[in-house]
Amino acid sequence: MTPSLTEINPQVALAPMEGVLEATVRELITAQGGWDFCVTEFVRVSHERLPLKVFHRCSPELRQGAVTPSGVPVHLQLLGSDPESMAINARVAAKAGAQVVDLNFGCPAKIVNRHGGGASLLRKPEQVGAVTRAVVEALKPLQLPVTAKMRLGFEDTSLAVENAQAIEAAGATQLVIHARTKVQGYKPPAHWAEIGRIAQAVSLPLFANGDIWTLEDYQKCCQASGVNQVMLGRTAMADPWLAARIKAYAAGQAFAETRFSDLLGLMLTWMQSGGSQYSERVRVMRIKQWLLMLVPRWGDLARKAFDQCKRLEEESQVIELLEAKGGAALMPS
Ligand SMILES: Cc1cc2nc3c(=O)[nH]c(=O)nc-3n(C[C@H](O)[C@H](O)[C@H](O)COP(=O)(O)O)c2cc1C
Repeated sequence: MTPSLTEINPQVALAPMEGVLEATVRELITAQGGWDFCVTEFVRVSHERLPLKVFHRCSPELRQGAVTPSGVPVHLQLLGSDPESMAINARVAAKAGAQVVDLNFGCPAKIVNRHGGGASLLRKPEQVGAVTRAVVEALKPLQLPVTAKMRLGFEDTSLAVENAQAIEAAGATQLVIHARTKVQGYKPPAHWAEIGRIAQAVSLPLFANGDIWTLEDYQKCCQASGVNQVMLGRTAMADPWLAARIKAYAAGQAFAETRFSDLLGLMLTWMQSGGSQYSERVRVMRIKQWLLMLVPRWGDLARKAFDQCKRLEEESQVIELLEAKGGAALMPS
């Protein structure tokens, strides 16, 4: 008998998010448990061979066995369209300590797409295949796996299956699908059923991504896509305990609901721990960005907190606000 979706132990991954999920936030979130791996912000590859320091800046974890301090594997993401340069820089990434290289076929940024990278590659499945194959071949002697992340397409989803097949045929070992086209940006809803259509056509492990904010969304996504492994991005910032809740659900166990004040506590913890390596101005800016990112999940609670925070300039004022709303920094374990 085929096991049900939840009987198969699902992996949950932390998404790459440029300017948001850098090493200190990756550590804070993965330390909450339930995360199987995370992916770095992208390293952009053009035509030059990048120095090692670029990879170490993007992922200090590469110097520590490519795992977060709490032991969760970190995959290094590359973004580029030229197979040869991608292959050369994948080897540099490996030298820097990367254990898994991930390829970005989904970035919607105009500047990236103008240079033929990110989501614009999805118009040419043969080039998606060529980039993937070049990196797979470059890393084969080192026995390092290559994974990929794509959107459903650029303007429409007509090439989604072809792109996934090209990635599989080129030798990637895993594929994350953000269930929207480039043109759809981040506009809800995510089209999870489209992932199911791709799953019929490939056999490499798939991860569903996009708008999985709650356990109920996870269940709906599993049903619509037939895929039970997921990657969480903004949704991880809005509920870092969702990964553990999904794991508990799959194991038939209960898991406490997240309270808004838990999140405020995590922000306070970040300011005092990982975030302390940044200037006060950066910390304050990042907390405002984080609060704004909570709005789709937490509605008025987050909107109000953001409105109250947006004109504050001093960190002490921000701390006072988060504490007044019930936030308490987590004690170091
Ligand atoms: C601010 C921001 C930065 C992002 N940076 C990256 C990136 O560097 N690489 C990548 O593959 N996707 C990137 N993404 C896309 C996310 O990984 C993810 O696919 C998307 O946010 C949908 O998932 P979510 O609904 O859980 O947020 C970024 C998204 C946002 C909002």
